[in-house]
Amino acid sequence: MKKSPLRVAVTGAAGQIGYSLVFRIAAGEMFGPDQPVILHLIEIEPALPALQGVVMELEDCAFPLLHGVVPTADLDEGFKDVNWALLVGSVPRKAGMERKDLLGINGKIFVGQGQAIARRAASDVRVLVVGNPCNTNCLICMHHAAGVPRDRFFAMTRLDENRAKAQLARKAGEHVSAVTHMAVWGNHSPTMFPDFFNARIHGRPVPEVISHREWLEKDFLTTVQQRGAAVIKARGASSAASAANAVIDTVRSLIQPTPGDDWHSVAVCSDGSYGIEPGLICSFPIRSDGRSWHIVPGLPLNDFSRARIQASVEELKEERAMVSELLTRSA
Ligand code: NAD
Ligand code: LMR
Repeated sequence: MKKSPLRVAVTGAAGQIGYSLVFRIAAGEMFGPDQPVILHLIEIEPALPALQGVVMELEDCAFPLLHGVVPTADLDEGFKDVNWALLVGSVPRKAGMERKDLLGINGKIFVGQGQAIARRAASDVRVLVVGNPCNTNCLICMHHAAGVPRDRFFAMTRLDENRAKAQLARKAGEHVSAVTHMAVWGNHSPTMFPDFFNARIHGRPVPEVISHREWLEKDFLTTVQQRGAAVIKARGASSAASAANAVIDTVRSLIQPTPGDDWHSVAVCSDGSYGIEPGLICSFPIRSDGRSWHIVPGLPLNDFSRARIQASVEELKEERAMVSELLTRSA
């Protein structure tokens, strides 16, 4: 039996990440080769002409799974009946900035979007925030999306997981697919903690395979934490293809059962697991059964790990304080 189309909203669809993302969704890479999609491409008014070009190219691909495109600057039209809302649209940082420097510019975008999602989206809507600083933007969106359950909100730290795996594989001289169980904890920022203690290479704990502890504790952490800035320095623009790829990985990992006893990283609304304050949008190791997800319980954390996770959680609280005005306004 033919599946009915899923409606997928992508904000900032004429931007860099949007351009790397929407064609892959339309080709079936996110929801599978038998799942039709209707793309709702949301942009600000000045970007509508560029968005029209993206729509023309989508048409020119003649994708069998693409059953419609809704290009719009109107949030009510854009989020109408959507099953997934991929919130990419926002300003990226430039060299020399931290992601949280964007809060003043980007934070308010997620007020109206959260409200429109609550008003218009399908009852099963799930929301993935990519626009930075993504954890706190997700918090703002969730606050304003009255009635949408909290377990439907995600912020993207999968790019950090993928980066961490790539660095460990390179150091160990192994293929990246040998690296599993990579939990990124905390904020998508330089305080994030890619947990090399619990990660494995060919099933063995990383510190057993890579005995160079100073490299793990210093070079590895810094490289992953600063990778976004390094890409901006090299490219003159923030990561786009790898970010779009991580969006696809994130959604697939939530809608497909997690293989074996592995896990993946995504920021979700804390339920107090691992002592992290409930309500913060914090990155955790997550497992999915294809329909619902849960935070992987009981991972051992030593003093080194705990201190780093705590520092990142403190930063999330600081960011929350910076946007308190956007969080006190009634939802
Ligand atoms: P970009 O500037 O190329 O594109 C952003 C697009 O968003 C533009 O087309 C712009 O018109 C649109 N936009 C701006 N405000 C909007 C609004 N209110 N509604 C709808 N669209 C709006 O930027 P990009 O490189 O695509 O990056 C987008 C965001 O993703 C940035 O905030 C960037 O920092 C973030 N990012 C996050 C991760 C992550 O891992 N979480 C990775 C890479 C980039
Ligand atoms: C990234 O990690 O590449 C993105 O968050 C973009 C940035 O500003 O670093």
